[in-house]
Amino acid sequence: MDAAEGLKKIAWAEAHMPLLARIRDRFAVGRPLGGHRVGVALHLEAKTAALIRTLREGGAELFVVGSNPLSTQDDVAGALDGMEGIQVRARRGESLEAHHANVDWLLDNSLTLIVEDGGDVSVRLVERGSHTAPELIGICEETTTGVERLQELEADGLLRVPAFAVNQARMKHLIDNRYGTGQSTWGAIMGATNLLVAGKNVLIVGYGWCGRGLALRAAGLGARVFVCESDPVKAVEAAMEGYRVVTLVEGMRLADFVVTATGRPGVVGEEALAAAKDGAVLANAGHFGYEYDNAALAAMASGPTEVRAGVEAYALPGERSVYLLARGELVNLAWGDGHPVEIMDISFALQAMAAEYLVVHQQELPMGVHPVPDALDDAAARLVLEHLRSE
Ligand SMILES: NC(=O)c1ccc[n+]([C@@H]2O[C@H](COP(=O)([O-])OP(=O)(O)OC[C@H]3O[C@@H](n4cnc5c(N)ncnc54)[C@H](O)[C@@H]3O)[C@@H](O)[C@H]2O)c1
Repeated sequence: MDAAEGLKKIAWAEAHMPLLARIRDRFAVGRPLGGHRVGVALHLEAKTAALIRTLREGGAELFVVGSNPLSTQDDVAGALDGMEGIQVRARRGESLEAHHANVDWLLDNSLTLIVEDGGDVSVRLVERGSHTAPELIGICEETTTGVERLQELEADGLLRVPAFAVNQARMKHLIDNRYGTGQSTWGAIMGATNLLVAGKNVLIVGYGWCGRGLALRAAGLGARVFVCESDPVKAVEAAMEGYRVVTLVEGMRLADFVVTATGRPGVVGEEALAAAKDGAVLANAGHFGYEYDNAALAAMASGPTEVRAGVEAYALPGERSVYLLARGELVNLAWGDGHPVEIMDISFALQAMAAEYLVVHQQELPMGVHPVPDALDDAAARLVLEHLRSE
């Protein structure tokens, strides 16, 4: 682990995160998180380190794990682990058992707040029966999939604290999911494959917030864009944007690049995989690495053979091959550095403000999943506008 390299990455990110810098300065004076023990489970790279250091500046003690073993950057984890008040347990490529053990370690620390991406910690909290721990005051959740898991816990009566659905903030899903995923996913696909996108057929599976950004940027790169979307209204929206709406099998027959962003398991199953065009590149931008049915792919194809770093070839019957990127894990984080820095500045500013809000308003907030208050959304938007005007 090269912690010095990690420190350089963190310094670069912080230099381009003006919103978090403003919050850090304010936190250093008011110390609003003083005495709090915050458990963090996020994609562990440099921008996340900037959020963690902001929470630390607010007076919190930090316990940190990754939210996906494939997105952890060891140099950043090593650099953070050396800092006062911050303990890290995460390693790139660690087994799922090791990841779960780290989540258990996190929960052994009498946490007062949880800041996470994907809901693993909240789900484990319930499995361990510690969701009624009196010291825990709340949860801030970053992504669509995590919010859905929290809503399931709430429906089952198992969510006993207030939880902010940071993903539902307008400044999060409108900006991060759309423009962040759009840019960083194409950056990762192009970096991983070194292939041209212009003039090619691209199939986007799932035209939600991420899918809209993925389609927009594919079109900007000169691709012909096809969309497969199960919600008919969103499918009409895609058509009105000028994309061709297709069934999954139709799209698979045509696509040179397929990108999934549904958040649902096994969406691209056996029939769709069997229809894939020779040479198709398969990538996923959804939270979990389960949108392609990997078991079906393994059963119907020979391989995988690694043909480039992070690119695995599967040979299908009929002398066709498909290339699966990052084993179907979310490609922009497993292969690349994740969202652009300025995007995560906004999302993490919301996380920091939501954590502060939970602490300040802990007596007033009922248990359950809550939207981030509009005032925080507006504050983040005003900070962005101020910064844009000053450039
Ligand atoms: N890669 C990243 O950096 C990143 C960033 C933000 C969110 N995410 C993740 O991406 C996923 C999507 O997030 P979102 O905010 O776009 O969610 P969303 O709910 O806005 O969009 C998902 C879309 O998929 C559609 N869908 C579901 N099943 C389908 C199927 N079988 N066929 C076709 N369409 C289907 C839904 O109708 C919906 O429109 C989530 O897992 C989220 O956590 C990833």
